[in-house]
Amino acid sequence: MLQRMRILGIETSCDETAVCLIEARGDHGADFSFRVLGNALLSQAAIHAEYGGVFPNLAKREHAKNLVPLLEKALEESGGLKPGDGRSAVPAGLASILAHEAELQEPLARFLETHAKPDIDCIAVTAGPGLEPALWVGINFARALASAWDVPVVGVNHMEGHIIISAVEDDHLSAFEFPALALLISGGHTELVLSREWMRYEIVGATRDDAAGEAFDKVARLLELPYPGGPEISRLAGEARTRGLVSRFKLPRPMLHEDNLDFSFAGLKTAVRRIVESESLSDDDKLALAREFEDSVADVLTQKTLTAIDTYGVQTVIVGGGVSANTHIRKTLAEALTNAGRVNLLVPSPELATDNALMIALAGYFHAIKKEFDDPAALRANGNLKLA
Ligand code: KG4
Ligand code: ZN
Repeated sequence: MLQRMRILGIETSCDETAVCLIEARGDHGADFSFRVLGNALLSQAAIHAEYGGVFPNLAKREHAKNLVPLLEKALEESGGLKPGDGRSAVPAGLASILAHEAELQEPLARFLETHAKPDIDCIAVTAGPGLEPALWVGINFARALASAWDVPVVGVNHMEGHIIISAVEDDHLSAFEFPALALLISGGHTELVLSREWMRYEIVGATRDDAAGEAFDKVARLLELPYPGGPEISRLAGEARTRGLVSRFKLPRPMLHEDNLDFSFAGLKTAVRRIVESESLSDDDKLALAREFEDSVADVLTQKTLTAIDTYGVQTVIVGGGVSANTHIRKTLAEALTNAGRVNLLVPSPELATDNALMIALAGYFHAIKKEFDDPAALRANGNLKLA
């Protein structure tokens, strides 16, 4: 039995700033369990909504402003926020570690001076993929804390976090059989990832242009709905279904009948743009069009997933990423998998589908128990970090 370990997870890859402290024990399989000790998250969505999308430098500034208060909140919640013992815990190199995050220096120095080292064994931080200016804030924050508290750091792939969080069930992970297929659908990614063994990945399909979440966000903009568009489109589409509204405009099902596992959503967005630009749409037309769009995305995601299941003899399907919060997509996939026979479907609880730090802490834990730490000085933000 592995010793229990306390991991602090930090996530700043996009427009959520999040810090989470967990305690975990065991390895993947029967003896793994964890507890969330403290969890703090601040979404910048409302700030970015004014611009209709995420602005990397604005995200960076907001992360820098929010990290210390969120750390304090997560530690407070865990009961682990203790006053300092008078010995300064501010590392000599703090200013140089935070050279590009000047606004973090003073609040972090003050925090470290006034608080004792918490009971933490390791820091896990998102290293990519994501917006590089945003990722760097989290990474440098993690490096500063690691230096102050003398704990190791592990750089986490954000998409691996989305996969692992989808398998969470209460305080453990659902046992699942390999090969497993992850359908990752977020604001930046749309990928089919095959996993023949735990934490080993092969990308077997990907989008050739826009990601699924990006398509939701762009189509929402065309329909004059606020950012982030996914939940808004989903709300309109749901209303259309309840009221039996069917769109008089049909949308394509891109790549549906092509013999590969790739996606393309740019044409779908263009088709919506043509309709919006050439027709005068009533409110009901908009509801029905949102429904038609959501149906199209759900159909394509489901069909490609079924093809991948056949191709690779998949036993478990794991859906992850922000778009996996979508009720209609979940339902369409679940129905198709039931019809397809004995394939286990794992989806995250809706509040853990979008970005959070628990998923980073969990993924970090599974690397930490294998001692897969990173040299803090060599840790880099990689906007295009790949799973394989
Ligand atoms: O995983 P995530 O929080 O951030 C990235 O890593 O990109 O995903 C955010 C994306 C956004 O595009 C958002 O519109 C979409 O997930 N999203 C949804 C829903 N909730 C969030 N898309 C469709 N339906 C939803 N209910
Ligand atoms: Zn994400």
